[in-house]
Amino acid sequence: MISIDILSAIKDRRSIHNFKNDEVERVIIQEIFTYASYAPTHYMKESWQIKLYEKNGKKHFIDAIIESYQRLGMLKTRDDDKTEKMIHSMKQFLLRIPHHALIYFKKEDDPVRYEEEYASVCAFIQNAQLTAWSYGVGMLWTITPYMHDEGFTRAIGLDPSIDKIAAVLQIGYPEKIPHDKGRTPIGEKLEFLSE
Ligand SMILES: Cc1cc2nc3c(=O)[nH]c(=O)nc-3n(C[C@H](O)[C@H](O)[C@H](O)COP(=O)(O)O)c2cc1C
Repeated sequence: MISIDILSAIKDRRSIHNFKNDEVERVIIQEIFTYASYAPTHYMKESWQIKLYEKNGKKHFIDAIIESYQRLGMLKTRDDDKTEKMIHSMKQFLLRIPHHALIYFKKEDDPVRYEEEYASVCAFIQNAQLTAWSYGVGMLWTITPYMHDEGFTRAIGLDPSIDKIAAVLQIGYPEKIPHDKGRTPIGEKLEFLSE
C-alpha cells in the first residue's frame, strides 16, 4: 500500500507549515503512531504518550496556549482592540491546523534515565514524521514556550512534577511543501578514527 522507500522518506520529508483543511483519517493516525512506536526504547519502557487534539477538542487546548502566552507575558491580557485581534487570529491559525499531537512522557529522577527516555521519545517522533510522510501526511515538530509553563501543563490535565511535554506535532495534509534547504556535507562533521 505504501510505495515510498525509507531513504526517500528520510531525504524528501519536509516540515510542513501550511495544511489543507481535510482531516487525516483516524486509521492513518493510528498507523503513523504504531510505526512510530517501533523506535528504540531502553528497558522497553515505551515512554511516549500522545494527546491528539482534533475537531472540538482543539478549543480547550488552544485556549490553554493563549492563557499560557498571557501568563508568560508574550501576549497582553488587556482588553483592547489590537490584543483582541491578535488573539483571534492566533486562535484561527491554530484551529485551522487539523490535528495537534502533544507528546509527553513520565519524568525520571535519574538524569541519565531522563536523557534516555527523552532520546527515545525523539526517535518516536521522527519515526512518526517519516511514516506520516509515506502516507502523504505532513507534520511540524514544535517546541514552544508554553510547553515549559507549569500552568499550561496543569490546564491540559497533566502534572508538571511528573509529566514532561516533549513536543507538539502539527498534523495535516500539506497545502504547500517547502523547498529542500539541503544539508551540510557530512564530510565536514564525520571524523574517521582508524588508528
Ligand atoms: C526539536 C525540534 C523542534 C522544532 N521546533 C520548531 C518550531 O517550534 N517551529 C518551527 O517552525 N519548526 C520547528 N522545528 C522544525 C525545524 O525548523 C526544521 O526541521 C528545519 O527547519 C529543517 O527543515 P526540514 O524539517 O523541512 O528539513 C523543530 C525541529 C526540531 C527537531
